[in-house]
Amino acid sequence: MDVPVLTSKIMDLSAISRLYAKEEGLLKTGQFGRGLWPVDMSIGQYMMWLIQFYGLKRGIEVGAGVGMSTSWLVAGFQYTGGKVTSFEYFPPKVREWEKNMERFTLKNALVGKHGARNVQEVVELVPAEFTRWVKHSGREKIDFVFFDQRKSDYLPHLELILPKLKKGAFICADNVLSHPDASQVYLDFVRKNKRFESACLEIGAGLEVTRVW
Ligand SMILES: C[S@@+](CC[C@H](N)C(=O)[O-])C[C@H]1O[C@@H](n2cnc3c(N)ncnc32)[C@H](O)[C@@H]1O
Repeated sequence: MDVPVLTSKIMDLSAISRLYAKEEGLLKTGQFGRGLWPVDMSIGQYMMWLIQFYGLKRGIEVGAGVGMSTSWLVAGFQYTGGKVTSFEYFPPKVREWEKNMERFTLKNALVGKHGARNVQEVVELVPAEFTRWVKHSGREKIDFVFFDQRKSDYLPHLELILPKLKKGAFICADNVLSHPDASQVYLDFVRKNKRFESACLEIGAGLEVTRVW
């Protein structure tokens, strides 16, 4: 298997840092509630490497927020020639997500081993509730899922998307250490079922990484 070249050689990751630096200013606008709760940068970087290293091609993100986590996924799928579909249902965050992706495009040369790709070719945002999409989506198989929505929805959403997952697909679920009670039923499911291999990475707010067989 090829070892991917360092992403910093193909993309300017400082654009993602600049998005994180905007968090405080965005909160002061009062449009986004109490917090944006972006994924920790270490988790974002881990997911980007996971996508790149395994050459994952088709991702789903539930809970896109204003796009911090999405940016890392874009960096991953840009490298592999893949695509991610992100879900966010809160209109002010949808609008901010769109602005952030535009800036991300302008400030980055999205040039990887698959040549130059516009950010719109790598990511699409569905401004709606995730479960509505799953019911009407086609037969396309998914090999990467990122969960960052309400923790009590992790298990019902996993059950919905399970038939669409490729053998060997990865599911990353954030906040399993910061929200242990709300995550427990999900963790029991992925850790006790023989169809899954699952472990917690103790970085950021705790990322449960699960492989589906
Ligand atoms: C923790 S925030 C996401 C942070 C984002 N992943 C990041 O790193 O920047 C959770 C988001 O999920 C959205 N959300 C929750 N449930 C959802 C659902 N079922 N479908 C679409 N969006 C959802 C909320 O509106 C909220 O903005």
